[in-house]
Amino acid sequence: MRNAKILVTGANGQIGTVLTRTLKERFGDSHVIASDIRPALHGDWETTILDVTDRAALDAIVRTHRIGYIFHLAALLSATAEQNPQKGWQINMDGWTNVLEVARKAGVQRVFFPSSIAVFGLHTDRKLAPQFGPLTPTTMYGVTKVSGELLGQYYWNKYGLDVRSVRYPGIIGYQSPPGGGTTDYAVDIFHKAVLGRPYTCFLGPDTRLPMMYMDDAIRATIELMMAPPEQVKVRIGYNIAAMSFTPAELADAIRKHFPDFEVQYAPDFRQQIAASWPERVDDRHARSDWGWQHRFDLEAMTADMIAHLQSDAVAL
Ligand code: SER
Repeated sequence: MRNAKILVTGANGQIGTVLTRTLKERFGDSHVIASDIRPALHGDWETTILDVTDRAALDAIVRTHRIGYIFHLAALLSATAEQNPQKGWQINMDGWTNVLEVARKAGVQRVFFPSSIAVFGLHTDRKLAPQFGPLTPTTMYGVTKVSGELLGQYYWNKYGLDVRSVRYPGIIGYQSPPGGGTTDYAVDIFHKAVLGRPYTCFLGPDTRLPMMYMDDAIRATIELMMAPPEQVKVRIGYNIAAMSFTPAELADAIRKHFPDFEVQYAPDFRQQIAASWPERVDDRHARSDWGWQHRFDLEAMTADMIAHLQSDAVAL
């Protein structure tokens, strides 16, 4: 990624904020173009304002900067898309279609698509979702992620566009707030805990979901994008796993640091979304193809989150 500039869409979102900072540190500030529909809240860069559904605007940025690599993170998350499904389809699919078409025509070298555990549905083995198996999501977000994966694979097969993708689990980080996801509770809960306040969880206590610490998610993203093409044998989204826990287990892990921490449960519409997703995913293809390895488990993640939220005084 040193030989051509990098474009990040959704650079000011939950993952985009940390990915952009990491890419800028690694490859140089001016080498990475941070684009988003809104200016940065937590990033310290100048944002190129871009609505990814505007193909002409995207094309102009890619050609002006001679972009070689695109990390396309602009999207609506599951809960937001479920409340406005037509908008979810429009932003997630029109945006991705535009990225693929612009990338193909402008000769972009590699493109990253963020897929999700939301590709799975009620026909998947919830105990361990396989890499290759039925993808029958019931949410609009999941529909756009399955469609997006298949479209990316199509561009690889048909045009040789080097599209790569992972299926992110719920992502937990101290650096940026999540927005509109079903797994957001696992970030929100830490902010309440360090303030010494109780937390009311919008998922039930026993809702087990796959999760990953932000540092691992960013490393997975960059490692996949830097892997030699022959190692990338799967051109739909790779399953990647790190840990899997319930809200009650996370609360217990936090109580090792704050013994008086109180959690109440008031499940809302997001419970149904979570119930359609698997508890764990089988990521052996990512591990054997390009060497994926997670570093943070529940205890290590909990300790690191709390240490950062206390010392960085991040007010999200
Ligand atoms: N974290 C995402 C969400 O909850 C899942 O991809 O929407």
